[in-house]
Parts: sequence; C-alpha cells; structure tokens
Amino acid sequence: MKRFIGIALVVVMVISMVGCTTTETDTGTDSKKVTVGVSMPTKSLQRWNQDGENMKKILEEKGYEVELEFAENKTESQISQIENMITKGAEVIVVAAIDGSALTNVLDSAKKDGIEIIAYDRLIMNTDAVSYYATFDNYNVGKIQGEYIEEKLGLKDGNGPFNFEIATGPLDDNNVVFFYGGAMDVLQKYIDNGQLVVRSGQTTREQAATPNWDEQEAQARMDNILTAHYTDERIDAVLCSNDSVSLGVQSALKSAGYGTSDKPMPILTGQDANIANVKAIIAGDQSMSVFKDTRALAEKVAEMVDAIVNGEEAEVNDTETYFNGVKVVPAYLLEPKFVDKTNYKELLIDSGYYTEDQLR
Ligand code: GAL
Repeated sequence: MKRFIGIALVVVMVISMVGCTTTETDTGTDSKKVTVGVSMPTKSLQRWNQDGENMKKILEEKGYEVELEFAENKTESQISQIENMITKGAEVIVVAAIDGSALTNVLDSAKKDGIEIIAYDRLIMNTDAVSYYATFDNYNVGKIQGEYIEEKLGLKDGNGPFNFEIATGPLDDNNVVFFYGGAMDVLQKYIDNGQLVVRSGQTTREQAATPNWDEQEAQARMDNILTAHYTDERIDAVLCSNDSVSLGVQSALKSAGYGTSDKPMPILTGQDANIANVKAIIAGDQSMSVFKDTRALAEKVAEMVDAIVNGEEAEVNDTETYFNGVKVVPAYLLEPKFVDKTNYKELLIDSGYYTEDQLR
C-alpha cells in the first residue's frame, strides 16, 4: 500500500511539474491567463480582418486570452475599445491606429496602469507609451510602386511625356508619408523634367490624399480629375498607394471608357494583394500590387508580446527611422514583395496565402 501511495505521489508531482512548465513557456505566469488586447481599425478592408484573425489565433495558441476589436474607422470607437481592454486587465495592447495622433491620452492611462503598447503596422504618434512597432518597410512599398512605373514607361531611357496622376492615402496615417515619399523619390525628377505630366496639378500628399483609404472617395476624386483634365487626353499611369484606392480609380477609369482594346487601362499600382485586386491583376485591369504577408507580421508581434510578458527585450531591426514626435520607436520591419501576373501563383497560392478558388 505504502509503495502504491509513493508511486501515486511521484506521478502527481511529475504531472504538476509538466503543467507548470507548459504555462511558464507559454505566458511567463502561473495558470491565470495573460490578457492581450488587439485593436484593429476596421472590418471594411480585407487585410485588417486577416490581421485581426491571425493575431487572435497565434496568441491563443501561445496560451493568451485575447480581446479583439475592430473600430469601423472611427477614432472614438477605437479609444473606447482600448479603454475597455484596460478595464479588462490587458497586460499588453496591440494597436493598428486609425488616426495615429489621436491616442495620446488613452495610451497615457494605459501606461499608468503598467500596460505596454505595440504599434501594429501604423506608427502611433506623440506618445512615449508605445514600446515597439512592427510593420513592413513602408518606404520600400512606395519605392517598389515608383520603380514599377519608371520601368514600365521607360522613364530612365528618356521616354515621354506621359500623363500621370497620384492617388495616395489619408493624412492621419503615418505610413502614407513613407508610401508617398518612397514613390516620389523615384518619380519626382520625371515630373520636374516634364517626362511625367500631372494635368490635374495635384502632386502634393495633401492634394492626392484619400480620406480613410476609402474606395468611393478615390473613385469620386478620379471622376473629377478625368472630367476636368482628360476629355481630350489619355492618362498613362496612376500611382495608387494601396488596393482600395486602386479599385476606386479603376471604377472611375472604366466609367470614362478605359479598359477596351482602343482605350486600355493605364499602368496602375496597388498594395496589399487583396483578393479583388489580384483578380483585377489577372484580368489585366490593375498592373501590380505589393504583397505584405500579414501572417509574418502577426508572428512578429506575437513574439514581441512574449518578450514583454517575460520581461525580455524584443528583437528589432530598426532603431532610427520611426520617430513619433516624442521618441524613436524600436521597430521590426518586414520586407514587402512585388506581385503581378507573372509571380502571383508562386507568392500567393503556393505559399498558402490564398487558394486557387479564392482567386477565380
Ligand atoms: C495602411 C496599411 C496598408 C493599407 C492601408 C489601408 O496603413 O499599411 O497595408 O491596408 O493602411 O488600410
């Protein structure tokens, strides 16, 4: 009997040791789960749905309790959702900001409660409450788009003049500074020397902005530009900073009769490789997009969460670029990839990002 009790005790001890080790590696605390808040800007764009779901899945697999919210592109909603996460005892909050400059107060109160913040994809401005930033190399996104237009039009060889327009993102998204900046560092010289002619005259980030990255806004602006400046002229290329803007521009162009063999679509860029846009690339309506693998971004952010919870430093690869008005936020930048008709299968289907059926 004594022997049996002895064995039973050893078994119980071993089981509880294994139990402890698992919880420790997972979240760095005892059996109580650590809560992580994930605040996404909107459900209206494909990418943020994917980002949110990926984050939730990866964090839950690691043993965290996840509070995931989407804010319908309304800053007030995002603020109250973050306030809720604070109340619910989140230890880390991951935020993809709608307006990067509007979260200072709410993040200050998070910081007072000892909560750490990770900026997801978009930098959060004017606060020292943000510990890390994970994103794609945003400057490179713009550069890839600019170089594509440069190459397709043969601008380096002196070709032109070509009619060209710009449609970028909202002024409150810090990424746009880099998207626009990276593209214009390639293209501005051709505007200056006359190889690219912007008939609308709308070349600044402010003039070319699209509020909320909204497809209808992009379409309405391009409708106006086409009516006012292109009744007798053909447009050759439009720099579109992302896929939703690109779709809006495509609708405007189609209403103006583009997309036929007589009047083919101009060169059109994009970003995100959204399903509707990959279909447009396959159909020949959009020329290219920039693929940002949101699975890799979510993995990176989950690693940052682990580091914070375990009291360690997270891995970063940029400690210079992302000054938010108060501090340079240590960042991890992932590489964006060029995608077009020639490589979408390999990049998007073979990697398991989409199934062939989704793109039909
Ligand atoms: C940007 C983001 C892009 C794009 C856009 C619209 O901040 O980096 O990938 O999705 O917002 O949501």
